[in-house]
Amino acid sequence: MKVQLEKIKQEFQKGLNEVSDVLMLEEFEKRFFSRRSGEMTEAMKNLKDLSGDARKEMGRLANEIKNELLEMLDQKRVDFNRGDSALLVKTEAIDVTQPKLPKQIGGHLHPMTIVHNELEDLFTSMGFMVLDGPELESTYYSFETLNIPATHPARENMDTFYIKDHSDWCMRPHTSPVQVRAMQKYGAPLRAVVSGRCFRNEATDASHDHTFYQMEGLVVDREISIANLIGTMKELLSGVLRRDVEVRLRPGYFPFVEPGFELDMKCLVCSGIGCGACKHSGWVETLPCGLVHPKVIEAGGLDPNEWTGFAFGLGSMRLAMQKYGIEDIRHLHAGDLRFLNQF
Ligand code: DAH
Repeated sequence: MKVQLEKIKQEFQKGLNEVSDVLMLEEFEKRFFSRRSGEMTEAMKNLKDLSGDARKEMGRLANEIKNELLEMLDQKRVDFNRGDSALLVKTEAIDVTQPKLPKQIGGHLHPMTIVHNELEDLFTSMGFMVLDGPELESTYYSFETLNIPATHPARENMDTFYIKDHSDWCMRPHTSPVQVRAMQKYGAPLRAVVSGRCFRNEATDASHDHTFYQMEGLVVDREISIANLIGTMKELLSGVLRRDVEVRLRPGYFPFVEPGFELDMKCLVCSGIGCGACKHSGWVETLPCGLVHPKVIEAGGLDPNEWTGFAFGLGSMRLAMQKYGIEDIRHLHAGDLRFLNQF
């Protein structure tokens, strides 16, 4: 087993030197750490055949090597990120003698589409339905049904774009309205995710855009607990990021959940040192979540004495940034082929 581990390490080091872009890095990461057939994952599975001290010793060694390899991956991701701007400057230089370039035909999926597809696969494998909801939404579903009455200060925090001359309609500021729509349509028990665009009248910076993506999740069943919520959130993050991530849970206030939480993850773009992607704090707010408020269950047409639930609203652009080491959210909507062609 020791020999096998050393061999994996050597191959990893050799292979990593040949990785020259983010996509290759992702493939490379899969080769070693994919949950199904990653070389390292497989090696770790063999531990269970050992017994007693040998198992303890090999377990420790395997963990040491695993962490070393993960650190190397993080470092490479950070390097790519720093290198980006240097690369752009170089390719921007104009060579006036160059003949016209052939037109590029063909295309590929946008990184956000890749991330949403992966999330949807993951959730369907856990028995969730994938739903959709309108981007032009009523204030009734956007706020009222979510326990945010007209006078509630949370409405102001949302910086909503209202429709001119139709103040009871808006561009949805979050995907949460689909929670109530889903309960009304499908009843309980229910497991659903909804990914889509949301809009807020925000000044943009490296971690905010006026148009952004969320993935909402809702589970309604009998006796749902915080343990169900946390277990699912961890599955979500490790499923998409293909590694164990460090998370912290803080209390968070959202009128439609009680209790509510903010689940933050250690920034993978800078490994927690601080960068534009994490507002220089080392932590990224990724997953606000909580247990569904009885009033919301009621608005969904269900009896809150019988049904309970948990919900989350994943900032999926932020997750994509973490996954690919993107330091500025605005790249994702800029339509710049130099950026997009890396995926
Ligand atoms: N809709 C909230 C927002 O955009 C995020 C959110 C928080 C969604 C908690 C949830 C939740 O489902 O449980 O700010």
